[in-house]
Amino acid sequence: MSSKYAVILAAGQGTRMKSKLYKILHPVCGKPMVDHVLTQIEKNDMDQIVTVIGHGAEMVKKTLKERTNYVVQSEQLGTGHAVMQAERLLGDKDGITLIACGDTPLFTAETFSELFQYHQSKGAVATVLTAHAAAPFGYGRIIRNDLGIVEKIVEQKDATKEEAAVQEINTGVYCFNNRELFKALHKINNDNAQGEYYLTDLMEVFQKEGKVVAAYQMKDFEESMGVNDRVALANAAKVMRKRINKEHMQNGVTIVDPDNTYIDTDVKIGSDTIIEPGVSLKGQTTIGSDCVIGAHSEIVDSVIGDSVKVTSSTIENSVMHDNSDIGPYSHLRPQADIGEGVHIGNFVEVKKATIGENTKVGHLTYVGDATLGEEINVGCGTVFVNYDGINKHHTNVGDYSFIGSGSNVVAPVEIGDHAYIAAGSTVTQDVKPHDMAIARGRQVNKDGYYDKYPVAQAAKETEAAKKK
Ligand code: UD1
Ligand code: CA
Repeated sequence: MSSKYAVILAAGQGTRMKSKLYKILHPVCGKPMVDHVLTQIEKNDMDQIVTVIGHGAEMVKKTLKERTNYVVQSEQLGTGHAVMQAERLLGDKDGITLIACGDTPLFTAETFSELFQYHQSKGAVATVLTAHAAAPFGYGRIIRNDLGIVEKIVEQKDATKEEAAVQEINTGVYCFNNRELFKALHKINNDNAQGEYYLTDLMEVFQKEGKVVAAYQMKDFEESMGVNDRVALANAAKVMRKRINKEHMQNGVTIVDPDNTYIDTDVKIGSDTIIEPGVSLKGQTTIGSDCVIGAHSEIVDSVIGDSVKVTSSTIENSVMHDNSDIGPYSHLRPQADIGEGVHIGNFVEVKKATIGENTKVGHLTYVGDATLGEEINVGCGTVFVNYDGINKHHTNVGDYSFIGSGSNVVAPVEIGDHAYIAAGSTVTQDVKPHDMAIARGRQVNKDGYYDKYPVAQAAKETEAAKKK
């Protein structure tokens, strides 16, 4: 078995994106395009992977880390020139080199593997991966001779009318005999419409030297889609989404409306979970089995257990344990840890707080910087007052406590187990276990005072009018 190397071209700016972010770092379903390419290449058991970086070099390195070696192309003089930069690391090695671009995020590991196999079976020095495009504009065209052998690849800007009519396109992916690749790269020039050193010119170089050049046409053009602008970016994301959703459905997840469900690449979902329309599941999110993720919920970088019900809510960087539920219209902000069987109702915000088993926070409540025990009932409209304008403070509430509606719990404060807070209290001092705290003004009733207010006159008129 020959050694296998890969070169990923990722030095370009991506001018057509009109973006501050370098093209190959634009995400498709939550993952930068170049990361998709690398991930699929990695699955092919490579001996060495080299990424050519230039524009945004530091950011690309930060994204791909140690997964690849890097060479820098400081001036973007073309795809051929880009591959040349890898000569330093690969030039003296025997084996096969796969070349792919950082802006083609949809290629699968299987396609790369098929290309390797085809390349070897043909004994070729170079094999280009091609596809049939209904609308080939913008791609390099595969020019074959009468025998069907590839003679050259012609770029859009250099193509004659007849060449431009060809619908077989260059996907930008190739296999090369590694030594032949670097030898031939010294023979290309930049005598073309873009004044660039084209990698694609190698085909003609090999052809003229009588070496075997092959082309492997993949079935699915869509998979080869190159992203040069935002329109293509949206198209690529659509294709990727369809693929991701299909895989989840095949694994036993119900997706009610796959065309309107947005699941990032690395999200994991257990079987018999139901995902309703308009849901976004982002980043490193894991969802268990038998959950219902209700319409228009958004879950980011969070872990959701089994049998959890999320109704139209937003969850970021948080954990919900088995059998808990939330919503509608609630928000878990970072570091919320929602225990087993916990009920979070509507219009509740939780931040940096742990809520123990079976505790209920039903309505209109803010829980920030707090540790709540088990089996607590938090009444409607309770506020954990955590911020003094400068610092955040923490509150603890013990198991089986009861917090009456409309309470303010002003941190830092400790409320013991089995404590009872009377409704409407503003708690500023610790409450011992089994005690009751009441902290509000006493009620005073004033005889007949209603009639002193303007509202009384208005009411009188309404009443009189109704009697007529
Ligand atoms: C390239 C191919 C074209 C093919 C298409 C497939 C060439 C000359 N053309 O065209 O035949 O149909 O891909 O998508 O190869 N890059 C560098 N350094 C450079 C220039 C480019 O690293 O100096 C990188 C870019 O970051 C990008 C990739 O190479 O990831 C392709 O470059 P791009 O300018 O997008 O080439 P296309 O015009 O799409
Ligand atoms: Ca491109």
